[in-house]
Amino acid sequence: MKTLLKIDNLCVKANKKQILKGLNLKINEGETHVIMGPNGAGKTTLLNAILNNPSFEKTKGQIEFCDCDITNEKTDKIAKLGVFMSFQNPQEIEGISVFNFIKTAKNKQTGENVNYFDLKDELEEKAQILNMREELLTRDLNVGFSGGEKKKDEILQLLSLNPKLAMLDETDSGLDVDAIKIVSRGIKSYRTEKNAILVVTHSAKMAKELEPDFVHILIDGKIVKTGGKAFIDQVEKEGFKNF
Ligand SMILES: Nc1ncnc2c1ncn2[C@@H]1O[C@H](COP(=O)(O)OP(=O)(O)OP(=O)(O)O)[C@@H](O)[C@H]1O
Ligand SMILES: [Mg+2]
Repeated sequence: MKTLLKIDNLCVKANKKQILKGLNLKINEGETHVIMGPNGAGKTTLLNAILNNPSFEKTKGQIEFCDCDITNEKTDKIAKLGVFMSFQNPQEIEGISVFNFIKTAKNKQTGENVNYFDLKDELEEKAQILNMREELLTRDLNVGFSGGEKKKDEILQLLSLNPKLAMLDETDSGLDVDAIKIVSRGIKSYRTEKNAILVVTHSAKMAKELEPDFVHILIDGKIVKTGGKAFIDQVEKEGFKNF
């Protein structure tokens, strides 16, 4: 099995505050990983650091993706290599429709002009999988979207861009119980033996729906324990105190 992502001893600061303190993680093709941890533990910071968001400073460690050292690579290059991130708090962008946003991203990704009608058909089909109203495709990106609609829009991008590694930050937040099932089904439809998923979540329901291979517990900037699905129940029942 090929290794997609390998993180060694990652230490990250933001605004002089040490957030990640020696984090290790390995993700192979075909695997689904869930990260759970208390608020402020560094989960979102980790995803940002993988994409080398310049607001975060790496003070130690190394990140490899598909055998390339991406520790200090530019974010757009890392994205082009096949890393995707859905945001905990998706931005609202006026003047760019959901359709044009995805079209531009796909043009950049493939280096070609995507056919308008093919993409329209594709996105309409994928919106249906996610139980998203088609009208959202022509609206400005996330502007006036409900919390759940924003999260579904992120997963629509995932399904269309089809990256090698999908990093999803609290995709469950704001989703109603039925939507959690629908979105989980959408995420599972993306999964193949050649790609991988890294999900950050506080929702035991979503974590279980995704049937992860590994569950990591991230506390105070480190992965303190890695286990299987049983950890989800433990977190649900006891919180993080016994980790
Ligand atoms: N730019 C920044 N400046 C200062 N502190 C920051 C910055 N970015 C993140 N932090 C701090 O780093 C810590 C980790 O934040 P992070 O967003 O990674 O937590 P999280 O594990 O995703 O939490 P949550 O479950 O609440 O989303 C927090 O205490 C946060 O306030
Ligand atoms: Mg977070």
